[in-house]
Amino acid sequence: MSNLISIENNFLNKMLLMIRKPSLVLEHILTSHDFERSRITRIKVAKGRFSESLAAFLDVNVNEIRGYFDSLLDTDFIRILVLRGLKDAKATILISEGALLYVVCRVVKPEVVVETGVGAGLSTAFILKCLTDIGKGHLISIDLPDQNILEGREIGYLIPPELRRRWKLHKGDSKVLLPQLLAEVGMVDMSFHAHAQAMSIRCLSITMSGGTLGEVVYL
Ligand SMILES: C[S@@+](CC[C@H](N)C(=O)[O-])C[C@H]1O[C@@H](n2cnc3c(N)ncnc32)[C@H](O)[C@@H]1O
Repeated sequence: MSNLISIENNFLNKMLLMIRKPSLVLEHILTSHDFERSRITRIKVAKGRFSESLAAFLDVNVNEIRGYFDSLLDTDFIRILVLRGLKDAKATILISEGALLYVVCRVVKPEVVVETGVGAGLSTAFILKCLTDIGKGHLISIDLPDQNILEGREIGYLIPPELRRRWKLHKGDSKVLLPQLLAEVGMVDMSFHAHAQAMSIRCLSITMSGGTLGEVVYL
């Protein structure tokens, strides 16, 4: 990509690159010239790619899943995230993973969600967007007090203020805090862990109708 940037002002080179590596040029155009539109494109791709398997996994009609993707795409949520600094945010989940979190949450309609690893707060924002849209539920998040975030920014800085009403952040080590919080809240309907140091995987677990339905693990 750095080669691409260094020659991008040369029209002839740009044309040659377009012929040799069209996907690289397309990716460059999408990400550098319209960051917001490229994120929306990724959610649309996730909708096409995952709707059917998600519907089968969650045992719901595929049109319900597609409708939840559409309700996310119909809002200015991505624009708000971009305005809050999404482009510079480090070590977040992928935007398509955020959309999957939102859709799963719409199906589960949880009362209690637990999350470990907030960072800039992209996953947190998607979960809170869902809870706000369904008008119920609370999210309990845990992050280390001294974690490495962009200078001058607070944990969860991407989360729009209007979504924070359903959020409680606990600062500390999840290995210590999680057992305490689980004992306090009792039943948890959905949990998400993006916690590289602890697990080196991202893991989503959901519970429906009182029993554990399963786990989706993102490598
Ligand atoms: C990859 S970032 C989370 C990204 C976030 N979910 C998002 O989408 O923007 C991982 C986060 O896990 C936190 N973390 C790492 N070890 C932890 C621990 N033992 N307890 C709580 N949080 C931890 C880090 O401080 C960091 O903020």
